[in-house]
Amino acid sequence: MPDLTSSIPELVKVVKTARDSGRSVGFVPTMGALHAGHLKLMQEARRENDFVVVSIFVNPLQFDRKDDLDRYPRTLDADMDMCSTVPVDVVFTPSPSELYPHEQLAFVDVPDLTSHLCGAFRPGHFRGVTTVVAKLFHIVRPDRAYFGEKDAQQLAVIRRMVEDLNMPVAVVGIPTVREPDGLALSSRNKHLTAEQRQLAPLLPQILREAQSRLDKGERSASAISRAIKLMFRKYTELRLEYFEIVEPRTLKAVEHVDGPVLIAGAMWVGATRLIDNMSWPVETETN
Ligand code: PAF
Repeated sequence: MPDLTSSIPELVKVVKTARDSGRSVGFVPTMGALHAGHLKLMQEARRENDFVVVSIFVNPLQFDRKDDLDRYPRTLDADMDMCSTVPVDVVFTPSPSELYPHEQLAFVDVPDLTSHLCGAFRPGHFRGVTTVVAKLFHIVRPDRAYFGEKDAQQLAVIRRMVEDLNMPVAVVGIPTVREPDGLALSSRNKHLTAEQRQLAPLLPQILREAQSRLDKGERSASAISRAIKLMFRKYTELRLEYFEIVEPRTLKAVEHVDGPVLIAGAMWVGATRLIDNMSWPVETETN
């Protein structure tokens, strides 16, 4: 089993010992409820670094709805089992009062990148993410940090925070892991009933449909968007929150597609919100 600590000074000490002995440090920040997507992040961190730290912290600052925070899955025993298969060296599980001992007055904001897509529907969410990730970076001081490409806006925002604030860490994006029917792995999939689980793959399907329309020569984002919205008409249990075609780095909406884009969507299945994204043109793997 990896070492487990909830204490900032203890974690700092353990990582310092590793760093002082010349070992590189890889860091995988998570909110727990680990799945095969997290496993891939941890394995990549293991491959590229001598010492691997995983944090598990359900960060209250990034939840815009209390019910979402309360029902976020917490599965520490299973998470520890997964961490030990990698294996990671230390798992950091701070309590909210360890990370936020008093009212947080200093925040990190990346406004331009967070005003649309998920940011438009989750006020304060990205400010909570960037603030906690900045705190964790200061505590762990990793050489490399690993994030899933499934949360494309989060990844873009963290990259920009690191760049703008000259944080000495390399941000590594790891491709999305999918179920055989295309559904992206997410801790929130645990909330889906069997019936909802059957409907959830519509989200990756609409992204693929958009890719295929672009492949066939359609260049108007609004024409694609209209077609995608029609696909939802027959599902009363599903609600498309947004579907957008954006420029991959700035995340600004693109109307006429004349270069690489990111196709992103968020969909509600009952009380569960799912997000996903795909790139266009589709990158073919080269070995
Ligand atoms: O992606 C997540 O799990 C969280 O947003 C993160 C990066 C761990 C910050 O709390």
